[in-house]
Amino acid sequence: MSTTSHTSKVANKPKDTKKSFEPRILAMCCNWCSYAGADLAGTSRMTMPPNLRVIRVNCTGRIDPLFILQALEAGADGVLISGCHEGDCHYVSGNIVSKKRFLFFKKMLEEFGLGDRVDFVHVSAAEGDKWAAITTEFVERIKKLGPTPVKNVTNLSDISVDDDHSRKARIHELLVSLSNRLGYQPKKPLHFNPDEVAEGYGFPKRDPDKCIGCYACYNVCPEDAIKIEDVQNKRRYGTLHAHCLVCKECEKVCPQEAIVISPGFELLSFLLNEPLWEFEVPMQKCSECGEYFNPKPFCEHLEKKISEKKAKESLEDLHLPFKPYTTCSACKRKKLAQSVAEVAHPALKRMK
Ligand code: FES
Repeated sequence: MSTTSHTSKVANKPKDTKKSFEPRILAMCCNWCSYAGADLAGTSRMTMPPNLRVIRVNCTGRIDPLFILQALEAGADGVLISGCHEGDCHYVSGNIVSKKRFLFFKKMLEEFGLGDRVDFVHVSAAEGDKWAAITTEFVERIKKLGPTPVKNVTNLSDISVDDDHSRKARIHELLVSLSNRLGYQPKKPLHFNPDEVAEGYGFPKRDPDKCIGCYACYNVCPEDAIKIEDVQNKRRYGTLHAHCLVCKECEKVCPQEAIVISPGFELLSFLLNEPLWEFEVPMQKCSECGEYFNPKPFCEHLEKKISEKKAKESLEDLHLPFKPYTTCSACKRKKLAQSVAEVAHPALKRMK
């Protein structure tokens, strides 16, 4: 009798998922320090959790953010990166560059609620005990967090990329995929401090006082990252962050030196494929038809240039039938055709 009741109690006991959960953790270790440290912990028979799959890389500088994102997208419950101590990197500064990149991506992952599932640590070849302590603590942390919230875990696909452009495109793809799988709804722009942004991420910063509203930057952008839109009496300028390659072509071509490419990142527009609209310039109304046609600063710039060339008087001597700086090109053509016809008509009449 007592045995039966005990059995049913055990059967009805709710399953403690957190306790039975064994996280799958990917660890990426530098060959020269941390991998040897992990090896030392093993050969010294230290107690360590069996939840880690260790990948050896030559230096943490080799760890592309793609590897971390792809591991999380593929369903890893946590990702641990371990390298040499600062100043000890076999390749001088690989770990410093890698850590900066890591912190940049961790910030994005924090926004997704995955920030606590990734970590960057330093373990030397002599620190087997430190490796054992870190991995034990990391596994405990992930156990407390529970299984990854990334839904519809995928199988790993080939992540080979041949250039910076395809790497960036793939990172964009993975972040969008992660945000979809998490059901992440961005509510507000998330800006990053320029010092926290990894190399290769930036966008044009325009000086509204210098920009005259021409299309020079737009025309030269190889990735269609610069967006210009005329809305009623304003022309607005924006950048599509996911597309910007930081090639600086727009900076080189701007006639007003109004653009500087600065490091920066904005998660919302990066994920949504929406440009971040930065500023607007007012448009000039045509003195003939009343339509908005060119940005006002552009017309003023034109007038200033003509004055500087001392050609303003000669232009006035022509007695043009329209105002040269404030008439749209369609009205200019129409007005010119009209005056030509007015001159030609009496002469043609006489010839008849
Ligand atoms: Fe170890 Fe660079 S060689 S982090």
